[in-house]
Amino acid sequence: MAMEVLAYQLQGLRRCYEEGPTRRAALDDLSLAIPQRSFMAVVGPSGSGKSTLLSVMGALDRGYEGKIEILGRDLRGMNERELGRLRNDFIGFVFQSFHLLPHLSVLENVASPALFAPSCRGAEEAARKALDRVGLLDRANDRPQHLSGGQRQRVALARALVRSPPILLCDEPTGNLDSRTGHEVIDLLERLHAEESRTIIVVTHEERLAQRARRRVELVDGKVVNDTGEVP
Ligand SMILES: Nc1ncnc2c1ncn2[C@@H]1O[C@H](COP(=O)(O)OP(=O)(O)O)[C@@H](O)[C@H]1O
Ligand SMILES: [Mg+2]
Repeated sequence: MAMEVLAYQLQGLRRCYEEGPTRRAALDDLSLAIPQRSFMAVVGPSGSGKSTLLSVMGALDRGYEGKIEILGRDLRGMNERELGRLRNDFIGFVFQSFHLLPHLSVLENVASPALFAPSCRGAEEAARKALDRVGLLDRANDRPQHLSGGQRQRVALARALVRSPPILLCDEPTGNLDSRTGHEVIDLLERLHAEESRTIIVVTHEERLAQRARRRVELVDGKVVNDTGEVP
């Protein structure tokens, strides 16, 4: 049987920060194999390395040692341009604090990553489709600040989806939301996993979000201390 290429192959990842005279490992010899179409939660106490892991996995941080393959592409030896292209083609990011631009409409915010694509002609159409996907097409012409927190995070999700990346990386996507609006985002992530064949990796403090994922990886001091594997 031919083995399908993994979404991620992480081997011996280490990421150190200088702290005065000492070096502190935010990631400490971390290895993970993540198949495509995974829905994985990364949990762990504050400072355990979750955000560090996500930025290394998103090819946003190059200061690590070890090996990363994304869909079979080895990041070592790639230059900034190649890394940029890989991010654009393969990865959508969602952050705790939405990062929407207040002077742009909802539609323009969602379209913005598509405008930098080699062909931006379909950007508006793609943005409308992504907004429809998150149930907010009727708010296309509003400004983000007129939306609720949960709606803003859904707009951020639409923006992450606009170029249809196979991988979605979310860092505490419900961290700034109350429990009711947090639900909108959790439901949406679950649907994106169930109905589209995306790999979703979500860092979270929230038990009810972690429980919806199919695999749970727990970090302490930059090490994996618990990994349920994919639960069928
Ligand atoms: N830019 C940085 N400079 C120095 N130390 C950092 C930096 N980013 C993270 N750290 C340290 O790395 C460790 C892991 O941080 P982080 O990945 O943000 O944890 P988490 O997201 O799990 O709360 C912490 O000890 C933090 O202080
Ligand atoms: Mg964090």
